[in-house]
Amino acid sequence: MKTTISQVSKHLDQTVTIGAWLANKRSSGKIAFLQLRDGTGFMQGVVVKSDVSEEVFQTAKNLTQETSMYITGKIVEDTRSAFGYEMQVSEIEVIHEAVDYPITPKEHGVEFLMDHRHLWLRSKKQHAVMKIRNEIIRATYQFFTDNDFVKVDPPILTGSSAEGTTELFHTKYFDEEAYLSQSGQLYMEAAAMALGKVFSFGPTFRAEKSKTRRHLIEFWMIEPEMAFMDHEESLKVQENYVSFLVQSVLNNCKLELDVLERDISKLEQVKAPFPRISYDDAITLLKEKGFTDIEWGEDFGAPHETAIAESFDKPVFITNYPAEIKAFYMKPDPNRPEVVLCADLIAPEGYGEIIGGSQRIDDLELMKERYEQHGLNSPAYQWYLELRKYGSVPHSGFGLGLERSVAWIAGVEHVRETIPFPRLLNRLYP
Ligand code: 4AD
Ligand code: MG
Repeated sequence: MKTTISQVSKHLDQTVTIGAWLANKRSSGKIAFLQLRDGTGFMQGVVVKSDVSEEVFQTAKNLTQETSMYITGKIVEDTRSAFGYEMQVSEIEVIHEAVDYPITPKEHGVEFLMDHRHLWLRSKKQHAVMKIRNEIIRATYQFFTDNDFVKVDPPILTGSSAEGTTELFHTKYFDEEAYLSQSGQLYMEAAAMALGKVFSFGPTFRAEKSKTRRHLIEFWMIEPEMAFMDHEESLKVQENYVSFLVQSVLNNCKLELDVLERDISKLEQVKAPFPRISYDDAITLLKEKGFTDIEWGEDFGAPHETAIAESFDKPVFITNYPAEIKAFYMKPDPNRPEVVLCADLIAPEGYGEIIGGSQRIDDLELMKERYEQHGLNSPAYQWYLELRKYGSVPHSGFGLGLERSVAWIAGVEHVRETIPFPRLLNRLYP
């Protein structure tokens, strides 16, 4: 019977056939240990010389790394491995022999691995990261569906910018100028006025000349937008959502977290509610921590965020930033208009900002004023203003960066390993 590694627990003591690749191998004169992978998982196959034909044993001994095969044998328990099962191999049918596979079990440099990303994805660690990414995607759909949100897909080709004009990818749209979407937010605001609670999940593009472990040129963002919800209510959705993501990965990705040697005690603490610190108090905290130069009104960089996060063992919301350093659409605090009703959620352990969110300006006159200040008077924004003209309501939303969240939850140092084919400052290949 044909099955997959993910299903072998259902075939204990049965003989099955699996389509697999050879990940690694150890052998002596009498026995060969094959590390098999089939995409669904990794499992050991044991070939005992005295139990198989001479031909099968020679085939096993000669298998090269990444050779593909149909392999047949009995599934037995293996208490020494985390996986718990292995195959007592009886037959091997080679499909295609791989010659000189470039990624060997020895250490390789990052640039070499990135040049071979199309193959590197096969390795055990990368496999684990992609499975955790998949679980976060699955849990995202579950969370928002369970909470009555409707998935809405904003356009990727746009005529206006959502987050400032300096980081836009320009392209031609026949005779017009167009941009690749930096954020679907403005469209999601329109969708919230039609459907109440909505979320998007799609690729976004930032032509940012940043070369840090947190920046991608193309990344995926989840952007919920909620009509009739103020900023405080939005923070509750955010902490419940992030807690749900972390607990889902803890429950459903035990093997993967083990492969990545993730310290799960840190993740187990990640349960709502999350602590909050105002921008003002964050400035005071930073000064105490030795950042004596920082002045009120300045934006925080990665070292500041890391220093703030160190004071908490859960993700922390930094709230009420100065209006000056935030986007044009954020609603000013009615009691203190120099700050806006917004928050960034900073992940623990130095992973930085994973969410940016705010209450949006719902007043037409104020929005027009902001347009003037930001030089956004183009007709391309007319539709956005009209949302404030016909039954405007308080509304809030946020954007969670998928790759930064995967990096944090999986415990991977750099976001380049959290997306199948990263687009980086100097990388468009493969
Ligand atoms: O803070 P940002 O720029 O917020 C927005 O785009 C809002 N329009 C979202 C909204 O309210 N609907 O981006 C949101 C998140 C960041 O917190 C970060 O996790 C991620 O997107 N992000 C990036 N991730 C990887 N590489 C980059 N260059 C990123 N820029 C932002
Ligand atoms: Mg931000």
